[in-house]
Amino acid sequence: MGLLDGKKGIIFGALDEKSIAWKVAEKCVEQGAKITLTNAPVALRFGGIQKLGEKINAPIIPADATSLEDLEKLLDESISHLGGPLDFMLHSIGMSVNVRKKKAYTELKYDWMQKTFDVSAISFHKLMQVAYNKDAMAEWGSILALSYIAAQRTFPDYSEMAESKALLESFARSFGYHYAQKKNVRVNTISQSPTVTTAGSGVKGFDEFFNYAEKMSPLGNASADACADYCVAMFSDLTKMVTMQNLYHDGGFSAMGMSPAILDM
Ligand SMILES: NC(=O)c1ccc[n+]([C@@H]2O[C@H](COP(=O)([O-])OP(=O)(O)OC[C@H]3O[C@@H](n4cnc5c(N)ncnc54)[C@H](O)[C@@H]3O)[C@@H](O)[C@H]2O)c1
Repeated sequence: MGLLDGKKGIIFGALDEKSIAWKVAEKCVEQGAKITLTNAPVALRFGGIQKLGEKINAPIIPADATSLEDLEKLLDESISHLGGPLDFMLHSIGMSVNVRKKKAYTELKYDWMQKTFDVSAISFHKLMQVAYNKDAMAEWGSILALSYIAAQRTFPDYSEMAESKALLESFARSFGYHYAQKKNVRVNTISQSPTVTTAGSGVKGFDEFFNYAEKMSPLGNASADACADYCVAMFSDLTKMVTMQNLYHDGGFSAMGMSPAILDM
């Protein structure tokens, strides 16, 4: 359809073929965009992203999203490679140290919690602040981050990632104001269904929960592919007036009260 013809962007967070960012990168290029890929230097060692880079002809620029210096370098190199300011960016980054170390919610270590917030949420503010001060985005650009409904409702095993997502969504609203005023740039979060990926499967009881959400959602869980379609729509010129929103992409899960399919289980 060429929805992104001539557009330039950066995709964060493609780790392997299951990553939501991987599908978004593929679909953006399919729709005519030119992109750069980035991930934390440690993630590049796994090699998956190189495969993607070759497939879609996108350079890979390492950046730890918590490092202002790395973000500066990433934006400079992307603009120089792509030949102009950016039309879109996807923040697809999440990691909880306490979840990884299997700490109970009532026993969290606070230095780990700070690391979690820095990687999963504050990095989004850092990215936007660096872009804002460099004037790296084109007029009517679109910035997205991926979130989860645990920001609004309690999902006990999601632990401190719930607060990370609440912070992430709040940054989208607050920065969305400033970026709209400066450059008509829109900033939104997409609240995605549980999805089988490395980050997703790291949450305790993920498989059972995935099946529960599948039954609770009238359309079933939204896949990573469907999420990528939604991201493309949000990067396209068809959604120019949508900003400062948390957009549910969850097959209807967030609006359900009771599901007969669950009672039948
Ligand atoms: N999988 C799900 O069920 C689900 C549901 C809703 C939202 N999300 C969100 O979608 C996003 C993408 O996750 P995913 O499910 O595709 O898993 P994923 O594991 O494929 O992606 C997470 C990415 O974050 C990157 N990352 C971690 N620390 C980083 C750092 N310091 N700097 C730069 N990158 C770093 C990882 O290398 C990885 O590529 C996350 O924000 C996640 O919370 C996932």
